[in-house]
Amino acid sequence: HASSKERTIPARSVSRLPGMSAPVRLRVSRAARIWLRSSCLAVIVSTFAPIFATLAGMADKKQTVIHAVVPSAGRGTRFLPITKSVPKEMLPVVDRPSIEYIVREATDAGIEDVLFVTRAGKQSIEDYFDAEPGLEADLARAGKRAALDSVNEYKQYARVHSVRQGHPLGLGHAIAQAKQHVGDAPCAVLLPDDLMEPGSQLLRKMIQVRAALGGTVVALLKVTPEQATAYASTAVEVLPIPEGVDLEEGQLMRITDVTEKPPLEEVKSEYAVVGRYLLDPAVFTALETIEPGAGGEYQLTDGYARMIDLPEEEGGGLYGVVIDERRFDTGDKLGYLEANVTLALEDPVLGAELKEFLRSKLED
Ligand code: G1P
Repeated sequence: HASSKERTIPARSVSRLPGMSAPVRLRVSRAARIWLRSSCLAVIVSTFAPIFATLAGMADKKQTVIHAVVPSAGRGTRFLPITKSVPKEMLPVVDRPSIEYIVREATDAGIEDVLFVTRAGKQSIEDYFDAEPGLEADLARAGKRAALDSVNEYKQYARVHSVRQGHPLGLGHAIAQAKQHVGDAPCAVLLPDDLMEPGSQLLRKMIQVRAALGGTVVALLKVTPEQATAYASTAVEVLPIPEGVDLEEGQLMRITDVTEKPPLEEVKSEYAVVGRYLLDPAVFTALETIEPGAGGEYQLTDGYARMIDLPEEEGGGLYGVVIDERRFDTGDKLGYLEANVTLALEDPVLGAELKEFLRSKLED
C-alpha cells in the first residue's frame, strides 16, 4: 500500500517490460515526485522564458525612453552674424549655453543618453559637456570652489554622444542619422531652439502619454493662423485623459492630420507642433522612405505623419500634448532676449538688481 507520502500510479502509464503479465503498480517516492515536477517545470520555463522575455521587452520598449536626440547641425541663419563662428546652441541664456537647458531638461525627465546631431564647426558643444583637467586643477589649486563646481555640473547630466549630419538636408534627415545609435527603441527629440522654462514637466508628461497609449507623441502650442504657417499645423480630436497621465482635460489630442509649414489657407487648427517629440521606432523606418517635402528638405513631420494611419501593433498612433508652460524661441533674436530677461529676473543672485536696472531704464 502506498503510504500517505507515496502515490500509486497505474501501470499503463509506464512501459510494460518484456515478460510482464500482471499489471504492475509503481510506487513513486515523494522525492522522486518533486524531482519529476521540478524537471517538468524546468522544461516549461526554458521553453517559454524567451517568449516571455520578448513580450516583456516589447512592453518595456513601449514605456521606457532613455534616449534623446538633439539636432544641432542648423546654420542659425536667423541669428547671423554671430552664428558665423559661434554655434547658436552655445549662446548664453543668463550664465550658461542654451543647450545646457536642453540637456538638463532631458536628464530631469529620466533620459540617460543624449545624442547631438552636429556638423563641422560645432565641436564647442561636445567640449562643453566634457572634462577639462587643466582648468579643474587650476581652480582647485586656487581654492575657487564655486567656479570648480560650476565647471563640473555637466557630470550630473545624461551622457552625451554625437554623430555628424554632413549635408544639411533637413530635420527628417538629421533625425535619421540617429537610427544606428538609438536602435529599435523609442526616443525623445528636443529641438534646441525651443527652450522650455527650467523645471518643465512637459517631457515627463509626454512619456506618461506614451506609456498609456503607445505610439508617437508631440508637443502642441496654441498659435494664430499666421504663426501656424511657420510650424507643422495639425488637425486634432480631444482625447480623455488616461489614468496615470498628469494632464488636464483638453490637453491631450489625437492628431488626425499634419502639414509642415502650410500656406495660410491650409492651416488646420490653432495647434502647431513645437520641438518636443517622443518617437516610436516606426518613425525611423518611415524616415527611410520619405521624399523631400516643404522647402525641398526631408521633413521629420512627413515621417511621423505616417504614424496616423499605421496600426497600433506596428507602433502607429500620433498624439499631441498641449503645452501649458513657458517656452521661448531662442533661435530668434527677440525670443532669445525674452528668455534672457525672464530667466535673469528669476535668478536668485541677479534678479533683484536687474529688476531695479530695468525699472530705471524704462523710466528714462
Ligand atoms: C521645425 C519643424 C516644425 C516645427 C518647428 C517647431 O521647424 O520642422 O514642424 O513646428 O520646428 O519649432 P523649423 O523651426 O526648424 O523650421
